[in-house]
Amino acid sequence: MAGRKFFVGGNWKMNGTIESGKKLVETIKSAKLDSNTEVVIAPPAIHLLLVKDALSGVEHVQVSGQNAYHKASGAFTGEVSVTQLQDAGIPWVILGHSERRTVFKETDDQTAEKTKAALDAGLSVIVCVGETLDEREKNESVNVVVRQLNAVADQVKDWTKVVVAYEPVWAIGTGKVATAEQAQEVHAAIRKWASDKLGQSAAESLRIIYGGSVAAKNCKELATQNDIDGFLVGGASLKPEFTEIVNARL
Ligand code: G3P
Repeated sequence: MAGRKFFVGGNWKMNGTIESGKKLVETIKSAKLDSNTEVVIAPPAIHLLLVKDALSGVEHVQVSGQNAYHKASGAFTGEVSVTQLQDAGIPWVILGHSERRTVFKETDDQTAEKTKAALDAGLSVIVCVGETLDEREKNESVNVVVRQLNAVADQVKDWTKVVVAYEPVWAIGTGKVATAEQAQEVHAAIRKWASDKLGQSAAESLRIIYGGSVAAKNCKELATQNDIDGFLVGGASLKPEFTEIVNARL
């Protein structure tokens, strides 16, 4: 909380058209946004430059890739590299999203490798972690996120340009938001992990954001929790209510 800038990401996933993307940007541009919140929009790769250009000059709002490949270039059909994002002036990338892990079978180690490559290329990274419903029911939530984070920490020593997104898989796109207490409990465990692994000062400045069915109606309560430093928003980032979520702390 203290000293950590509130951070709200909008992950558009594989949604929208050029037209709808432009409209969303207009909504963001015309809203009065909390200047104490850092906002990062992650459109589909094909819309990245369009959205970046449309947002140019808007303070506190940046763009992000939704994924990237760790190799700089080469015969990797269909991939976009961390280096290409950097070259295109895209400052952020989301890595390890649960859809990458579950649908595309990306492992903890691949997420870690990508995170290292992205940071080496000069990007900032939103690293996603989170447990499935089955893992939560087995009381494994903290073990799972710690395992996912340890894999990254094995390759990444400096976490200054990393934001951790805790996204319980059972809460993503389901309308089942974690309660403020459930989210805070895991966020506090992540901060404790960071303190043990990265040191107290790194832990205190690490932003840990929550994702999973965040909406205008539940964001304010979540935002009151000590270790919730913002949100990664999916569905609601495609709606005008996204600006209310950005302003959750107002
Ligand atoms: O990355 C954001 C995310 O996975 C949450 O999606 O639709 O539940 O807000 P949603």
